[in-house]
Parts: sequence; C-alpha cells; structure tokens
Amino acid sequence: MERWIGKTALVTGASSGMGESACITLVNHGLKVIGLARRFDRMEKLAIKLERAKGRFYPMKCDVTKESEILEAFKFAETLGGIDILINNAGLFIPNHIIDGPTADFDQVLGVNLRAAAICIRETAQSVKKRKSQGHIINICSILGHNVEIAKGAPMNLYTPTKFALRAMSDVVRHELSVTKADIKLTNLSPGLVKTEMPGNSSYGEKIYEVMPYLLPKDVVDSMIFVLGTPPRVEITELTIQPFNGNLESNNSS
Ligand SMILES: NC(=O)c1ccc[n+]([C@@H]2O[C@H](COP(=O)([O-])OP(=O)(O)OC[C@H]3O[C@@H](n4cnc5c(N)ncnc54)[C@H](OP(=O)(O)O)[C@@H]3O)[C@@H](O)[C@H]2O)c1
Repeated sequence: MERWIGKTALVTGASSGMGESACITLVNHGLKVIGLARRFDRMEKLAIKLERAKGRFYPMKCDVTKESEILEAFKFAETLGGIDILINNAGLFIPNHIIDGPTADFDQVLGVNLRAAAICIRETAQSVKKRKSQGHIINICSILGHNVEIAKGAPMNLYTPTKFALRAMSDVVRHELSVTKADIKLTNLSPGLVKTEMPGNSSYGEKIYEVMPYLLPKDVVDSMIFVLGTPPRVEITELTIQPFNGNLESNNSS
C-alpha cells in the first residue's frame, strides 16, 4: 500500500457498512479520502474520529443519482491532486418485485447501482489519464451478480440485474482502458452476505444473520487492501468473498 500513501481515493456510500469501513482503513493507511453519501451527519462524525489518523477524511454530501453532485465532488478532488482510487460502493436494494414494482424504484436502483458507478468511472479515468498517472477502480458487486438462483423468489427488484450489469460494465471498461493504454486497474469485488444495514432492511430483517453465515465489512475491506497492494504487473479482475459455511456460531463471533 506504500505507493498509495498521500494519494486520493473517492468512496461512494461512505456513511455506513463497507463504504464507511473502507474510508477508515484507507485514511489509516495515509490516503486522502473523499466520502460521498446523503447522510452527511454520519460522515461528519467519522471525520472527527479520524482527525488524528495518518491520512485525512473529506466528507461530502452527495446523492449519487444527481450527476451535478458527483461532478462537484470530482471538482473538489482536483484541489487534492485528482482521484487515484475509486471505490464504487454505493448501493441500493429495494425489496419488491419487478412484475408489480413502481418505475420510480427501477430508476432509483439503476441510478445508484449502475449509472452513478459509470459516471464515477468516467471521471476517474479522465482524471488519471489527464495526469498520466496510475489508478485503481474497485466496483463492489455481489455474488448475486454471478448467480440469480441464490436469491430465488426473493423480492430483489433490479438489484440482482444491476450487479450483473456492473460486472459486464467492468469488462467493457477494461477493454476501453486497455485500448487507450490507460494505467488503471479495475477490480470487481463480489461479497456474499455482509452484516450491514442493507440486508437488515430486507424482508428478512435482522433475522437473516441468525440463519445464515455472514461476513463483516472489515473482511471485504481487507480484500480491498490486498487488491490495491498488488504489484504493478498484477491485476485482480474478479474476487468473490463468501462467508465460510462452517459452524455458524463460532464463525460469526469474531
Ligand atoms: N451487505 C451485503 O450483504 C452485500 C453483499 C454484496 C454486495 N453488497 C454491496 O455492497 C455495497 C455497500 O453496501 P452495504 O452492505 O455496506 O450497505 P449499506 O450500509 O446500506 O451502505 C449503502 C451505502 O450506499 C449509500 N447510498 C445509497 N443510495 C445513495 C444515493 N442515492 N446517493 C449516495 N449514496 C447512496 C448509502 O448512503 P446514504 O444512505 O447516506 O446516502 C450507504 O452509505 C453495495 O453496493 C451493496 O450492493 C452488499
């Protein structure tokens, strides 16, 4: 991770779960981290907690379905030298069905999980290329973006399709980066169930953690740090991280 010390990362969905955990870890590694989310108060509290850390946390209130707010964040990033690492983490899950769900929900899920990720990728690629620098983009996908059957019958709305599409978008972008000889790695991280607010908001509620093994945000962030720390000749393109399905009680205790 030494090569990233003093560089700038942008993390979407920084107010909770994996995004918050990623911000803490990256700041502790000495990076400047811009965190985007709508719940600014939570990020403000995090900024206070990180005041004495090696790097610095810059919270920005941003609804990622609004392009102008994303562009504002990238404009601010220029004052810090430009974005070197993008963690496309913001995600939205609305538990209802496609066959009778409202179009507004389709728009929201597409807007957060796919359109915002595309805008952030474009802006990061432009920033890195302009500076003839190196970059790394990490898209937080899901094992649900590999296999629809895992959530068979559950009210997933467009969540699962957007996670498949995010992985497809990564492949398209990797080709584009290669053609233009951009020095930017791109990794899809696909976790299984992680204990955050998101699954708890599903129709199963918090009960899901009593019946299924789960990861902690830190487990996913540890993988993120591993991926970012690979030598220049190595690009981890896809990483799935599953809770180990052993003894549920002992596995979930640490
Ligand atoms: N938890 C799991 O089991 C699991 C498994 C695989 C993949 N994932 C993926 O992991 C990523 C992180 O999710 P999480 O589990 O950490 O859930 P989480 O705690 O609910 O975090 C979701 C984050 O996305 C942000 N967000 C949602 N809509 C937004 C919007 N319109 N504008 C800006 N930010 C927005 C939220 O911030 P605000 O509400 O403050 O805006 C929040 O910080 C997501 O992409 C999710 O799909 C989760």
